[in-house]
Amino acid sequence: MKLIDCTKADDRDYIVNSVAAIEKECFYDYWSEKSIDRQLSQNSSVFGAVTVDNVIAGYVFGQIAADECELYRIAVSERFRKKGVADMLMRFFIDKCRANSVANAFLEVRADNIPAIRLYEKYGFKKIGVRRGYYKNPVCDAVNYALRIE
Ligand SMILES: CC(C)(COP(=O)(O)OP(=O)(O)OC[C@H]1O[C@@H](n2cnc3c(N)ncnc32)[C@H](O)[C@@H]1OP(=O)(O)O)[C@@H](O)C(=O)NCCC(=O)NCCS
Repeated sequence: MKLIDCTKADDRDYIVNSVAAIEKECFYDYWSEKSIDRQLSQNSSVFGAVTVDNVIAGYVFGQIAADECELYRIAVSERFRKKGVADMLMRFFIDKCRANSVANAFLEVRADNIPAIRLYEKYGFKKIGVRRGYYKNPVCDAVNYALRIE
């Protein structure tokens, strides 16, 4: 397994197409190729991917604003799950936050997404709030998490 900092990678079309395919596989509100490409261009983006035999298995995306970073997406293609890919991505995300003097990271997750909740809690994210019935398709609470970056 290899980690790539997507904001610095040369093979941008490959990254955009691979991330878009995983988006479609994992999310009903998936991002288009155009919006993924736009995020790759921004200095404030934290965008990492893990490859297995040169195939993109998963990615993490967040955005820094001042001393805060919002984790928007972490996703691993189904056939690469439960092999530690998300572990690598979370470490990349936290290292990047630290390198950019981020004090706190935030995220929001569906209350029924147990794999993601376990992952976030494993890396020290603490629950800070709930938005009742926030998500649709199907309706579900959103749980807000925060991590103090030491
Ligand atoms: C959540 C997700 C990213 C985990 O990816 P993964 O590569 O399979 O995770 P890893 O193998 O690296 O596991 C890391 C940790 O995640 C948690 N985890 C992963 N899969 C889990 C599962 N099925 N059940 C419970 N916990 C799980 C565990 O804490 C695990 O650590 P452990 O093995 O020490 O217990 C993956 O399931 C996924 O892509 N889900 C769909 C997209 C999504 O919902 N993303 C989050 C919202 S943006």
